[in-house]
Amino acid sequence: MSQTNTADFTPTIVAFLCNWCSYAGADLAGTGRQQYPPSIRVVRVPCSGRINPIYILKALVDGADGVMVSGCHPGDCHYLAGNYYARRRFTVLKKLLTVAGVNPDRVHFTWVSASEGARFAQVVTDVTDKVRALGESEYKSRRGGERA
Ligand code: FES
Repeated sequence: MSQTNTADFTPTIVAFLCNWCSYAGADLAGTGRQQYPPSIRVVRVPCSGRINPIYILKALVDGADGVMVSGCHPGDCHYLAGNYYARRRFTVLKKLLTVAGVNPDRVHFTWVSASEGARFAQVVTDVTDKVRALGESEYKSRRGGERA
């Protein structure tokens, strides 16, 4: 049964969060009892600069409806420039997604610091709304709706 484009469709979003900022922001959102949709599956990474675009493609191919990458704000990367490398990489990745027949709006890149629990909850809510509006992943449809 397809849930595409229904109001109660909860997309599956793989969220790659840098350990030093966004993961801590997610933790703060939890301890601060911030409410956000149960749509994300968190993958904790040392830095957004360590996220190989292949990880994002793999998540989409394996059935994720969207991917969110969140790192430290510009200038705050624990490893100085990892988030700048990530930003450049994801600009190119979005173009590649278009060529591969995947809507590039399924991938979102954002900054959330360790002190921004409320912002983390808002970002997850916004990304979930945007991915929900797109419906189920094109790859999932091609695979007959199965989830990996
Ligand atoms: S350590 Fe957070 S983006 Fe590099």
